[in-house]
Amino acid sequence: FEPSSYNEQQGNGGETHQQAGDDVATLTSAQGIPVADDQNTLRYGARGPALMEDFHFREKIFHFDHERIPERVVHARGYGAHGYFELTDSLQDVTRAAIFQNVGERTPAFVRFSTVAGSKGSFDVARDVRGFAVKLYTKEGNWDLVGNNIPVFFIQDAIKFPDMVHSVKPAPDRDFPQAQSAHDNFWDFISLSPESFHMIMWVMSDRGIPRSFRFMEGFGVHTFRFLDSNDRSTFVKFHWKPKQGLQSVVWNEAVKINGADPDFHRRDLWSAISSGDFPEWELGVQLFDEEFAEKFDFDVLDPTKLIPEELVPVRIVGRLVLDRVVDNFFAETEQVAFCTQNVPPGIDFSNDPLLQGRNFSYLDTQVKRLGSPNFTHIPINAPKCPMAHFQQDGHMAMHNPVGRANYEPNSWGAAGGPRENPKQGFRSFASEETGPKRRLRPESFSDHYSQSRQFYISQTPIEQKHIADAITFELSKVERPDIRSRVVSHLLHIDEDLATTVADGLGLPLPELAQGTQPTRTDLPPS
Ligand code: HEM
Repeated sequence: FEPSSYNEQQGNGGETHQQAGDDVATLTSAQGIPVADDQNTLRYGARGPALMEDFHFREKIFHFDHERIPERVVHARGYGAHGYFELTDSLQDVTRAAIFQNVGERTPAFVRFSTVAGSKGSFDVARDVRGFAVKLYTKEGNWDLVGNNIPVFFIQDAIKFPDMVHSVKPAPDRDFPQAQSAHDNFWDFISLSPESFHMIMWVMSDRGIPRSFRFMEGFGVHTFRFLDSNDRSTFVKFHWKPKQGLQSVVWNEAVKINGADPDFHRRDLWSAISSGDFPEWELGVQLFDEEFAEKFDFDVLDPTKLIPEELVPVRIVGRLVLDRVVDNFFAETEQVAFCTQNVPPGIDFSNDPLLQGRNFSYLDTQVKRLGSPNFTHIPINAPKCPMAHFQQDGHMAMHNPVGRANYEPNSWGAAGGPRENPKQGFRSFASEETGPKRRLRPESFSDHYSQSRQFYISQTPIEQKHIADAITFELSKVERPDIRSRVVSHLLHIDEDLATTVADGLGLPLPELAQGTQPTRTDLPPS
């Protein structure tokens, strides 16, 4: 930066005019018209009214007036970086996905980490789930693994997502609380939705306040399918394991950090990458077949359950390295659009009802957020492999079909554009589906407490204390005593000491066991 390279002049009113020169570009309007004066509007006389004719002023203000786009309805506050995925162990035996064939091959990646509940301007070290969304620009199109730093989710069915999110976002009448779960509405919803307790245990643990994005795990959460070249299916769960290790802060630190530096996590990621300390995660997969899945006591389609790693070990197959910060936050981190339905050939969905709902939701919300079905034309969203289709027109269309034909089949031969490719194209798993149309929750989704308890007892005593402290603190902010009691009545199903500690901390009598829920089961999946 060389301030002296500008030709600097003072205007009549003492305003500074920095003028273009040999090595300093000429300022232009968005139409490319060179601008002579960017300090003063065009007026009638030096002290007269501003003129409508001043197209430079009007264009500049018009564009500024339209700078904001809607923030994401969830995960509004996020931070992204570029990098690559490198395969270290071929998965040729279970999937035909190109990204998993050749050891050593690198695939460009973009990752966005986020909090879920807070608005775009909220603070980083909130007690919350963290989004861990990975876009992999594979040779066969984009694969988005849109995960979180917690392996399970609050709800079992996507139809409950708007309710769950409404409950955690600020209450509609008062617009607070803004960025934490200390909230009557949130705990009201949770206490009436026992399926959420496994995730609640994770969020109230140290995992809910990570020290930085670099020290978190990531999970695809749902059970997905791998398909090999014969369309044979293997179930798969995806894990990202940080090479940096796993670290959290404690609540007192989080409160102070948020006050002192609301940008703590984004600053940490930017600084690490900018100084060459590139964060790295291993990609792990848990693989199992349908027959094995049948043996679990829980349903592998239930997103409130994880597959215990001692039963299905995590096989490490690659590494993700983040080595480049963005050039422009808005163009890349804000405009990136992840969607669970973006999967290449060789990867497929399971019938997890949450995943099926997500596949609809992301695309729908992104048309609103980014304003046009052509958001795939934005460089951060565009595939880096050849693309050929007949989609056309719409707002901001940049890549319309070339030539005469914009349909197929057609009889224009090779000039008629692309055609389908049964061998290399995406094929869904031909699963057999039977049964009546219904809205009933399956019986196999009904055990809400076994894995909650398993998580709690796997924690060290100090970690267990953090969980009890967090729940007590959060519930102490809840005004209605019946909501507090209802939460404790569920905790009794998980661990009596935990429930008693929380009840004592709140000065509550120990309530009855939560009613209307399934009996507690202590058994775990088969060994
Ligand atoms: C955004 C993860 C469930 C709807 C996100 C993002 C992540 C994420 C990481 C942020 C993406 C980004 O950085 O741009 C998850 C996980 C879920 C889950 C792991 C459960 C396992 C759901 C469900 C729905 C949903 C059930 C709706 C049915 C959305 C929407 C956005 C979003 C609308 C905003 C997308 C945008 O504006 O670009 N989710 N989510 N999510 N999620 Fe989810």
